[in-house]
Order: sequence, then C-alpha cells, then structure tokens
Amino acid sequence: MQSQKIALRSVELGARYPAVGLPEIDGDHRRINDELQRLAAAVSLDNAIQAAKARNSLLAEVAVHFDHEERLMRQIQYADLPRHQRTHAAFLAGARRIPIRKSRADPILSSRFVRWAARIEEWFHSHMLEEDLPLGRAVLASRARSR
Ligand SMILES: [Fe+2]
Ligand SMILES: [Fe+2]
Repeated sequence: MQSQKIALRSVELGARYPAVGLPEIDGDHRRINDELQRLAAAVSLDNAIQAAKARNSLLAEVAVHFDHEERLMRQIQYADLPRHQRTHAAFLAGARRIPIRKSRADPILSSRFVRWAARIEEWFHSHMLEEDLPLGRAVLASRARSR
C-alpha cells in the first residue's frame, strides 16, 4: 500500500513514470525513458536517419523489457498474463509496421511516424499505470509469501 502511495505521488509531482517497486523493472523503464527522449529529439529535428536508429534502439530495449516482464508473470502464474502480453505484442507489431519516411526516396519523416512518436510516451505512461504497477504489486506479494 505504501509503495502505491509513493508511486502515485511521483505521478502527481510530474515524474515521467511511476516506480513499480521492482528495481530490475524500474531500471528497464528508466532505460526506455532514455530511448524515448532520444527518439523525441530525432523527431523534433526531422532527422530520418537518427529517428530510424532511435526507433530501432527503442524497440530492441522494449522487446527485452517485455520478455523480462512476461518471464516474471510466468514465474508467479499471473492471472492477467494473457491480457498484459497481448498489449505488449500489439505495441511491438504496430510500431514495426509504421514507415519512418514518407517514401523511400524522401528523407522527410512520415506523418504516421510523427503521430506515433508523439503519442508513445503517453502509451508507456498508461501501460505502466494500468499493467506494470499491478504486476509489480503481484510480484512483490508473491515474493513476500515465499519468504
Ligand atoms: Fe508491461
Ligand atoms: Fe514495463
């Protein structure tokens, strides 16, 4: 309960992401946040080469992180695993489909990509509140029971 209060307070204070309470997951989230900032910088410069690098690097980090969370879910036989895993898979599938450039010959970012990049931080924020915080609580409860 205490950790939930702290997490909600960090949101009110304008922190980008609430702490889940598992150091390994919070570390992943911090690295994802760093990648998101790099992507935002590349998009703001309208630099397709940097944006492609940032997108690929972000998705690689995110794929490792989603595997990490899904391993934890299996370890504790988490009831909401199917739903949480579906949101991960849908995010990655959608992100990989979006063309970065308007066309192959065009160095300008596609408007779909810019829209996706503009909404992605909000997606992570909502996902962490709706899916990752409850997962963190369940993992902590499971660890406390097995002590
Ligand atoms: Fe997640
Ligand atoms: Fe997460």
